[in-house]
Amino acid sequence: MRSIDEQGYHFEEWLTPQDIAKDVEQVAKRISADYKTKEPLFVIVLNGAFVFAADLIRSLDADIRCEETFIRVSSYYGMASTGRLEFIVPLQQVVENRDVIIVEDIIDSGLTIHQLKAHMRGLGAASVRVATMLFKPNKLEYDDAKPDYVGHEISDEFVIGYGLDFDGFMRNLDAIYKVKENSPSE
Ligand code: IMP
Ligand code: MG
Repeated sequence: MRSIDEQGYHFEEWLTPQDIAKDVEQVAKRISADYKTKEPLFVIVLNGAFVFAADLIRSLDADIRCEETFIRVSSYYGMASTGRLEFIVPLQQVVENRDVIIVEDIIDSGLTIHQLKAHMRGLGAASVRVATMLFKPNKLEYDDAKPDYVGHEISDEFVIGYGLDFDGFMRNLDAIYKVKENSPSE
């Protein structure tokens, strides 16, 4: 098993590239079946989701007609329960009447997805679903942020690689690694 040390933390390989490929294949198969007669617009959440999204769209059935666009947001847990969403890279594409699939690397509290879904609905999307590589069900605080397509579930542990970062680094790892000591996220 491979391991990696970063900023004093020890990480061990959890999902190998082969494991990830199986997860991506399973998600792509379901999306291909569900969107056969539609033209989905993938809204890829930067920065983390770009690796998963690149594999996912190439695993879809070739007859799926789809488009991709990007968004970069930052969420704040303010005092108001609604929170606030800052658009660092705003949406460049019209989502009105489109079947949107938001693509995320990982869903934790669900705040980002909760707010993004409301944003897409407000812009008149015909439907909004969510595909994520990883999902932490134990951490979910927003019911409507439950993803429709999940690569793998994970308990409350900090992971890096395959798009997931530790202070901006380690996104390039081809596998997903779990922290072995105290999680730096806590
Ligand atoms: P949420 O809005 O609380 O669901 O947060 C989701 C975001 O938190 C993800 O897009 C990641 O940027 C970050 N995140 C949550 N858990 C992890 C992790 O284990 N590793 C790296 N980033 C994480
Ligand atoms: Mg992220």
